[in-house]
Formats: sequence, C-alpha cells, structure tokens
Amino acid sequence: MPLLDLRAQLAELGPALEAAVLEVVRSGSYILGPAVAAFEAAAARHLGARHAIGVSSGTDALLVALMALGIGPGDRVITTAYSFFATAGAIARLGAAPVFVDIDPRSYNLDPRGVDAWLDAHPAEAATVRALLPVHLYGQCADLAALGAIARARGIAVVEDAAQAFGATAPLGDRARAAGTVGAVGCFSFFPSKVLGGIGDGGLVVTDDDALAARVRTLRVHGAQPKHHHALIGGNFRLDAIQAAALAVKLPHAARWAAARRAVAARYDAALAPLGVTVPQPSWGAAHHVYAQYVVRLPAGVDRDRLAAHLAARGIETAVFYPVPLHLQACFAHLGYRAGALPEAERAASATLALPLYPELPPALQDRVIAALAEGIDAVG
Ligand SMILES: Cc1ncc(COP(=O)(O)O)c(C=O)c1O
Repeated sequence: MPLLDLRAQLAELGPALEAAVLEVVRSGSYILGPAVAAFEAAAARHLGARHAIGVSSGTDALLVALMALGIGPGDRVITTAYSFFATAGAIARLGAAPVFVDIDPRSYNLDPRGVDAWLDAHPAEAATVRALLPVHLYGQCADLAALGAIARARGIAVVEDAAQAFGATAPLGDRARAAGTVGAVGCFSFFPSKVLGGIGDGGLVVTDDDALAARVRTLRVHGAQPKHHHALIGGNFRLDAIQAAALAVKLPHAARWAAARRAVAARYDAALAPLGVTVPQPSWGAAHHVYAQYVVRLPAGVDRDRLAAHLAARGIETAVFYPVPLHLQACFAHLGYRAGALPEAERAASATLALPLYPELPPALQDRVIAALAEGIDAVG
C-alpha cells in the first residue's frame, strides 16, 4: 500500500484531465496565455486573495516572493528548523541568512515564543531580520496571529510557506482565513503529491498587495517590463500552461478532497491514540487542517526504522518527513548550529513517521495499516 495513490484521482478525473491537456496542445498557446490566466483567476477566487500568480514550483514561489520583497545579502529571515529543504534553500539562495527557530512540539510549526526569544536575545541581528517565514506543516496553519503580531511590531513581512496547506484555514478574528492569504505573501506548491497537485511541477504566489504582485509577475519573466526591458533581474518562473489547465480541472474538487482527508485522519486518530502513538494535534481544530501528511509521533522506545521495516514487510509504505532538521543540514554548517540547539525539531525528526493517507484510501486498507502498526509497536517496542 503506497503512502499515497495518485491513480485513485485519475479514476475520477482522468477523462477531464486528458481533455484539458489536449485543449492546450491544440490551442498552440503554451507559455502563460489563457490557461494560466484562467487558473490564476479561479485560484484567487477560491482562496480569497486579490492576486494569484502561477509559478514554476513551490520552491520558485518562495524564491520569487522573497525576491519581490527585496531580500538579499545582509538580510536575515526567521524560519522553522523543521520543514522541507526548499523553505531554507530559498532564503540562502538569495544570499540572505536563515535564522532557525524551534517548533511547537504539538503542531510541529514555528513557535512564536521561540521567535520572540531569539529577537530579544539578538538585538543587533534582529535589526537585519526582514521577514518571518512560517511553514504550515503537514497542512495546518502555523500560529499566524502571534507571528503576525511580532511582524507588525517590527515592521517586517510574514511570508507563508503554504506549500502543504492548500485549502487549510485558520480562525483569525471573526472569520476563517485561508492559508497563504494572511501574511504579506503566500506560497503554494502543486507538486503532484500535494493536497492540490498538478501533473508535474507548479506553484502559486498569492498576495493582496498590488505592488508586490506586479513585482512577482515581472520577476517571473526575467524582470522584463515591458518585454526586453529589464529593471529587475528575475528568472523563468512561469507556471506551465498544461499544468494550469490540469489544476483548473482539479481545483473545484480540492475542498471535497480535504474533507475526505480529514475523515481518514479522524479514523486514524481514534484507532491510534490508544496505542500510545501521539496523533496530530490540530491547534485550530481538525476542521481547519487539510492533512497533507498524517504524521504520528512514536512512543519512546519504539525503534522507527524497525517499525517502518515491519510495515514495509506487510506491504505498507511509510515515510520520514524530515530525518534531518534544517539547522543540522551539512550545507548550513557555516551558520554554526550544533546538535541539541533546537531540541523539539530534533526530537520530531527522530521520532515521527508518516502513514498512508489520501482522500480515496479505503477503510479496509486503513484498517490494515492500523493493525500492522499495533502489531509492529508490540513487536519492536
Ligand atoms: C514546506 C514546503 N515548502 C516548499 C516546497 C517546495 O515545493 P516544490 O516541490 O513544488 O518546489 C515543498 C514541497 O515540496 C514543501 O513541502
């Protein structure tokens, strides 16, 4: 049983996807054009954002968002120590320095108290911090209320890495706000395994700021405005027309898929909590979570590798997101972080395991995962 089965979606949408792709092929319009514009408009409406700009990947969404904010050498960006590499890579590629802060062990998200503590303890460096870059890990929003307050007090931007959280929300003020639309700018990935996934790479930048949106659009085409006139140095960060067409087919189903993911997660929660496994802790309530991944924390004394092998022997695929926290990646050794510096991120990296979850996961298969996990914990614990 795979961690996720992308073919399950094809059973439902295969003909519509093929028709949409064929329409692009026949249109002769392959770069930006009507397919990208239509998806951007639909995505902006869906998320409640003023601007949605299709880009080549989630990685490039982060890169171009930080570029549009003018972040570069000499600047710092505070982010979580526990995420996919692209979060930190985007900061470092611009010559800025990532500042890694520990996570809240319940949500696995950037801990605002840690951000405050770092800023208080480093007044000189704090003056060079240009943005906070929280990640909505596994499909649940980071504490945007607290992080927003810190950012506002310092006059810096919040850049949301919402790569894993398309359709997630957070109740802020009197309404639920969509992940990605709360900060100055939000970044999504349409990598095929995401909650809303393309049939290849893709990403999206959303913002309510007209000037920022205009800069992202310009940077997406090498900084040209108009064509061949470059006031900015950008790159080729365009969303492919074929991806846009496929995503437009899938977008109307995103909310239903998120609900199906929540139902699978609720079943896991009920069955796994009695096993001593720490199930995901939705800080805003499960209704706001989209469960891009279902990640459990194993009981102390359970060897993760042996448990994963036990499950693999029964045909059940699992994954470790992420075995090495960002501050301990070899490429960031020059930043001087040592093992033990950010203990919650390190604990999460060593004791968590992702289980199969996708909207169409049949209850009978899920029961096999639950039974094998129960047996495995007994066997290797
Ligand atoms: C948290 C996070 N940020 C950024 C990315 C990068 O997205 P992409 O793979 O589309 O470049 C991903 C996904 O892969 C991610 O999970």
